[in-house]
Amino acid sequence: MTVAFARQDDIDAALRTIPQRTFRLLLRGEPVWIKRPRLRPGYIKYGLQTTTASMLGVPLLCPPRVCRGAAGLQAEARRLARLARKGWPVPSVLDVSERWLALRDNGRSVAQVLRELPPAKRTDMLRSALQFLQALHAEDGWHGAGQVRNFTRVGQGFGLIDFEDDLEPSMPLARRQARDILLFVMSAARFAKGEPTVIEALLADAHGRASPQVDAELRSLAPKLVWLHRLMGPLAPWTGPEGRAIAALGEAYRHLPPAQGPDNAAQIPSASAGTGG
Ligand SMILES: Nc1ncnc2c1ncn2[C@@H]1O[C@H](COP(=O)(O)OP(=O)(O)O)[C@@H](O)[C@H]1O
Ligand SMILES: [Mg+2]
Repeated sequence: MTVAFARQDDIDAALRTIPQRTFRLLLRGEPVWIKRPRLRPGYIKYGLQTTTASMLGVPLLCPPRVCRGAAGLQAEARRLARLARKGWPVPSVLDVSERWLALRDNGRSVAQVLRELPPAKRTDMLRSALQFLQALHAEDGWHGAGQVRNFTRVGQGFGLIDFEDDLEPSMPLARRQARDILLFVMSAARFAKGEPTVIEALLADAHGRASPQVDAELRSLAPKLVWLHRLMGPLAPWTGPEGRAIAALGEAYRHLPPAQGPDNAAQIPSASAGTGG
């Protein structure tokens, strides 16, 4: 859908005065989210992440291929439109230009909602959000950037935003889904204050629902996370939320029961068409 020309002018005027890359505007009384293109190539960060992932032997942590500039906006708009057609709770694309992407509001960020909840309710909401993500996985879907901050609250359920990270075709479907789960659980560690068992609970939930291939992908990481946890364990409190997340994951994997049944020994396919993205 193309918005009225006057609205496009309003967006361009806002871009001249608002410095943020993503911001909310009220246009004709309707809240609209505006995203600027990603400009920096970020090759150094990409190279560092790729090198770290290969040194650790964890392909799952390879950074996604991300389109930048106007092409990146178009790519996110196309993916959102495709997911909306499948019935995913993603924001509708109001319009896209060379300079911005305009999206309908898709609810409050779950990260914001969680900060206002007492610890036990936070854990419940994190578990429900992970269940929602895995329900999409069960339909051969994946997000690509499954961090908690990319979930929104829509009524009593959830919505999703931020589809810039394009993992296709570099990763098999099971690995994309395992990556979603890992990013979700690691980002959840930020909200685990006062509830020390939340990471363990989320991992047990994730493994309980995951397909054998996703289960195997996640389990292949476990020894590395346990090793990292041992290495940096005493430093974890000073390493920020990511360090604490790795420590919590390493600890949780030490207690995770072994995989059940012959299916869990299934080979990970080297490629998968997938239909979710
Ligand atoms: N359509 C939307 N509905 C609700 N909130 C949004 C929407 N788009 C963006 N936001 C808010 O803006 C933040 C940044 O947007 P996002 O698309 O995640 O970009 P990025 O993380 O790449 O900067 C989100 O975490 C969310 O709080
Ligand atoms: Mg985001």
